[in-house]
Amino acid sequence: MSNVLVNTIAEVRARVAAARRAGRSIGCVPTMGALHAGHGALMERARAECGTVVATIFVNPIQFDVQADYDRYARNLPADLAFCGERGVDMVFAPALEEMYPAPAGTFVDVPETAQYLCGQHRPGHFRGVATVVAKLLHIVQPDFAYFGEKDAQQLAVIERMVEDLNFPVSVVSVPTVREADGLALSSRNERLTAEQRRAAPALYRALQSARQAIADGVRNAETVKGAALPALAAEPLLRVEYFEVVDPRSFHPVAEVAGGVRIATAVWAGSTRLIDNVFCPAEESSARA
Ligand code: PAF
Repeated sequence: MSNVLVNTIAEVRARVAAARRAGRSIGCVPTMGALHAGHGALMERARAECGTVVATIFVNPIQFDVQADYDRYARNLPADLAFCGERGVDMVFAPALEEMYPAPAGTFVDVPETAQYLCGQHRPGHFRGVATVVAKLLHIVQPDFAYFGEKDAQQLAVIERMVEDLNFPVSVVSVPTVREADGLALSSRNERLTAEQRRAAPALYRALQSARQAIADGVRNAETVKGAALPALAAEPLLRVEYFEVVDPRSFHPVAEVAGGVRIATAVWAGSTRLIDNVFCPAEESSARA
């Protein structure tokens, strides 16, 4: 199936307005390209729920805290367009840098409370860049629904908070993480892993599952939960833990005691590749043995 490639803000707006006049709801899937089955799940969900599906492909420079990471980010527009076409995306907005930032950005969106810890702490400016570009994309596309993956759970929480605080007229839809058979969460960064690092990487999910199991078994102290999980990561010398935290699922502030639903989140380095993952532990599970 083919889709329409649009490079300018004016054309997206005109096409979205026409779709709206025709009575169709608009779903938006913001991406930075390098598309994989995780993005595919977002697109398929949008396709099932919306009359018109717009995917955006833009590698956003202001969310990279390290220039080299921006420079080496995988870019393959023809493959991404084919991927979108196969998933029934109607329109792909792939603007050039100058279209999105004709001048260096002078206005930013900050969500400091949600961005304070975890990735926000270790990647200064990252969530400010994400919130700013997502705000721009939502203003440009003006969708009814916007789709984001739970794999980037703190990003999702930042966007939900921004949408709520600034009254964006959009419903944010979260879509479960897609995993390889061995548990590794799909990410465009997985491509950069060496064969040995790839073999070690499923330890992230094993550690998260151990933490979740500890909570299900009745452990309430967050340090004890971490103690149950970290050996799975320590057993892999190729991995270096940046953080492993038990957090409130909305604020993303670390908790000392588990007293309701929590998210367990981790960031781990495999050489120069940073991997993140998380699992949600619902309140029922946290209270089952309390
Ligand atoms: O998750 C991503 O791919 C990016 O952070 C996003 C939301 C498209 C903003 O650039």
